[in-house]
Amino acid sequence: MQIRPAVISDADPMWEIFRSVVAGGDTYVFAPETPRDRADEYWFAPGVSSYVACDGETILGMYKIVANQPDLGSHVANASFMVDPNAAGRGIGKQLGRHSLKEARRLGFSYMQFNFVVSSNEAAVGLWKSLGFSIVGTLPRAFLHSQLGYVDVFVMYRSLEDLDA
Ligand SMILES: CC(C)(COP(=O)(O)OP(=O)(O)OC[C@H]1O[C@@H](n2cnc3c(N)ncnc32)[C@H](O)[C@@H]1OP(=O)(O)O)[C@@H](O)C(=O)NCCC(=O)NCCS
Repeated sequence: MQIRPAVISDADPMWEIFRSVVAGGDTYVFAPETPRDRADEYWFAPGVSSYVACDGETILGMYKIVANQPDLGSHVANASFMVDPNAAGRGIGKQLGRHSLKEARRLGFSYMQFNFVVSSNEAAVGLWKSLGFSIVGTLPRAFLHSQLGYVDVFVMYRSLEDLDA
């Protein structure tokens, strides 16, 4: 498996993964009927650095890094991850996560913040903890889960200063 910067010709398979992930209504705030242009903007807007995990021509997952805030908060990165549900549980998320930490450091960020980790998303919470993130805040009932109703959301945070720039 290779991780490389996403290019616009990846947008079709990235859209298929985005659509499959948001269809569950259990991990992202995007409604299942979110239109394609919103997804394309999410991955390819100015200031966004996106990467894909691929096996040959097949895109298996992707992530993006963006400054979490402008100007005086711009030393903190935000990142978002989606793995093809058909390829979940094979270590792709972990490899993307590790890659994102190094890449964010290389891009000059000092911290990484996840703004909206759904508390019932055990795979994500476990993965981010294993990569050194701490839960620094809980937003009570901030997410309307498709099956569980309102559930808490975690803000997770990690310094990047232990990584080589
Ligand atoms: C969350 C997500 C990125 C994880 O990617 P993945 O490729 O499925 O995960 P991996 O196979 O790399 O597993 C990594 C770790 O996650 C944890 N994990 C995976 N599946 C899990 C599950 N069902 N329950 C609990 N922990 C789980 C484990 O700690 C695992 O580490 P291990 O090596 O010690 O077993 C992926 O499932 C996904 O895209 N989900 C939908 C979108 C999403 O939730 N994005 C993150 C939003 S914060």
